[in-house]
Amino acid sequence: MSNEPRERWGNRAGFLFAAIGSAVGLGNIWRFPYVAYDNGGGAFLLPYLVALLTAGLPLLIMEYVIGRRYRSSPPGAFRQLSRPAEAIGWWQVAICFVISAYYAVVLAWAVRYVGFSIDESWGDDPNAFFSEDFLKAGEPGTVSTFVPGVMWPLLGVWLVTLVILWLGVRRGIEWANRVFIPALLVLFCILVVRAVTLDGAGEGLDALFKPDWGALGEGSVWVAAYGQIFFSLSIGFGIMITYASYLGRKSDLSGSALVAGFANSSFEILAGIGVFSVLGFMAAQQGVGVSELATSGVGLAFVAFPAIISSMPGGAFFGVMFFLSLVIAGLTSLVSIVQVQVAAVEDRTGLSRRAAVALVGGVLTAVSVLAFANDGGLSLLDAADHFINQYGIVLAGLVSVVVVAWVLRRLPLLQRDANATSAVRMGRVWLVCLGIITPLVLGWMMVDSLRTELDENYGGYPGSFLGWAGWGVAAGALLVGVLAALIPWRHHGDIGGRAPEAEPVEDPEPVKEGN
Ligand code: ALA
Repeated sequence: MSNEPRERWGNRAGFLFAAIGSAVGLGNIWRFPYVAYDNGGGAFLLPYLVALLTAGLPLLIMEYVIGRRYRSSPPGAFRQLSRPAEAIGWWQVAICFVISAYYAVVLAWAVRYVGFSIDESWGDDPNAFFSEDFLKAGEPGTVSTFVPGVMWPLLGVWLVTLVILWLGVRRGIEWANRVFIPALLVLFCILVVRAVTLDGAGEGLDALFKPDWGALGEGSVWVAAYGQIFFSLSIGFGIMITYASYLGRKSDLSGSALVAGFANSSFEILAGIGVFSVLGFMAAQQGVGVSELATSGVGLAFVAFPAIISSMPGGAFFGVMFFLSLVIAGLTSLVSIVQVQVAAVEDRTGLSRRAAVALVGGVLTAVSVLAFANDGGLSLLDAADHFINQYGIVLAGLVSVVVVAWVLRRLPLLQRDANATSAVRMGRVWLVCLGIITPLVLGWMMVDSLRTELDENYGGYPGSFLGWAGWGVAAGALLVGVLAALIPWRHHGDIGGRAPEAEPVEDPEPVKEGN
């Protein structure tokens, strides 16, 4: 059993680097540009901003304050809010398990593509190269062969991730983010400068920024904006609760949330500018419209980009930089997703950090390799990603906000806790956003996406396959959450010496500086 004291971030900047590192990930580089383009281009930026202000930042602050107040990973933190709410925490841990198992695989592809970029190994047909030559993709749901080309980089990604986690919160996670985030910024600025100076870049930027105002009237555009903000800010998966549990009692919360939220969105828009400039170049080369090029998330990075790299001057260098950015951005996010699971095991079983890293890391590496480093991996990843995002992250976000705001009525308590130490104080607007706007919009999102789901099979996959690879995975995460909460864990982790509370506590002393 561990008697290790709970770790702390070195200082506020260390926490901010880690929070930004978690937020900036694959979602910023390949997901945002495609989602924005598909949902009205420039007109998407308005719903996106509204989603950031009405749900993203308020929920980010709520997760920060829950994490800091209860000083525990999601199961322990929700347990202290109310015993049955522990299931929400375990549900978030299970969601993180699924996401990290495939997120590492996309990183492994990106690692391979750094190498492929050097000699443009994809030849004339990047699409066939990606799915047939590289991934050996077969029929959905069938597995007949291992793919060593994915397995080896995947093992490498897991090794690096687990070494960072093994070193601890301050010496591992904080240190890695302090190095990787500035490096990512430099890499990305070089990429974007190169991209906007390409012939045809203007056309690409027009496609991204030219508003299609009609799109504002479509519900699906608003749904997409809220979904993107959740994924991108890393909210709804318990990550920010976990990271904030390593904050000092007097740390500023709302100021940090504003910095992290706006840094993430700035990076997202920068990525959009870079990606669409390059798509504009590609369209100009082929004499077609940009709309005919944009493909879905996975395709955009691993199919459209290689094609572009082949046709641009200095393509190899550009390709190496692009895929390296993807690797760095994804790695710091993967570390945060796995940390949720490590912290939950540590807190609830009393295992030491290193034992928890070995246990969680061992299981995750095995599952990730067995499930995805084979010819059925691509379709499984696609289905699991879609369903765990829609019916995992967003649904868990909705349930947590309804439980905290309406069932337990803890928002005023959390508001006072955050305000006592934060530079920017939250007023009634925060309560309205979390208590009314967020639940209504997320509830509507659920109904809307369920309707689409029932109308047509996601990705055109057979219903039997989606039954287990999509619905089954999402329902499994929920079931694991409920079952894990029924286990009478003997260790309750560091709950900051505070018993499960029924009554509000006194406000802590207001202090604006320090950690
Ligand atoms: N927030 C992370 C991303 O955008 C998960 O990829």
